[in-house]
Amino acid sequence: MRRFAERDLAQFLAYLNDPQVARYQSWESYSAAQARDAIERQQGLDPGLPGRWFTFALESKETGALVGHVALKTTEDGRQAEIGFTLAREYHGRGLAFEAAARVLDYAFTSLALHRVTATTDCENDRSVALLGRLGMRREGHFIQNVWFKGKWGDEYQYAVLREEWLREHAG
Ligand SMILES: CC(C)(COP(=O)(O)OP(=O)(O)OC[C@H]1O[C@@H](n2cnc3c(N)ncnc32)[C@H](O)[C@@H]1OP(=O)(O)O)[C@@H](O)C(=O)NCCC(=O)NCCS
Repeated sequence: MRRFAERDLAQFLAYLNDPQVARYQSWESYSAAQARDAIERQQGLDPGLPGRWFTFALESKETGALVGHVALKTTEDGRQAEIGFTLAREYHGRGLAFEAAARVLDYAFTSLALHRVTATTDCENDRSVALLGRLGMRREGHFIQNVWFKGKWGDEYQYAVLREEWLREHAG
């Protein structure tokens, strides 16, 4: 897990524009300029800055290739955060999203000492729902047609985990 770099552009752009990866995400597509801008905007940011998203790049230890990213948005008061995750399609189903998201949660609760981390997912996004369950995040909300999403009303689940719960589960 590391910061994004200019060399990530081609692979970043490729998976952002994969319809299967974008299906439940906020975007339809990314131009090269938008992707470059997203990478540039991360330069100089640190995780945990109030009100800002920080995006951790995930790199394969074996090949050095960009696998995907995990993003963490700290709330304005700096006490909580929201987590999101995106992997290139060829890396789905290998436990890599779990490994990365668990590491970011660990970092959020130990290094940043946040109180609570939340996540929101489309109810139809089975892989994301399964991952959030595996991470031990609690489903706290089930919203019905709360979001106008890609041409229709969508339902969302909201998940959360508290620092004390995470630390209890992952002691040592
Ligand atoms: C959501 C997303 C990150 C989940 O990725 P994922 O690879 O399914 O999640 P995990 O890392 O937990 O991997 C679990 C799978 O790896 C398998 N696996 C293989 N080796 C494993 C290992 N060593 N350890 C754990 N799991 C392993 C598990 O059996 C499981 O397979 P299954 O899905 O067939 O049951 C991914 O689908 C994605 O990027 N989707 C597009 C973007 C998106 O929608 N993001 C969420 C927005 S809210």
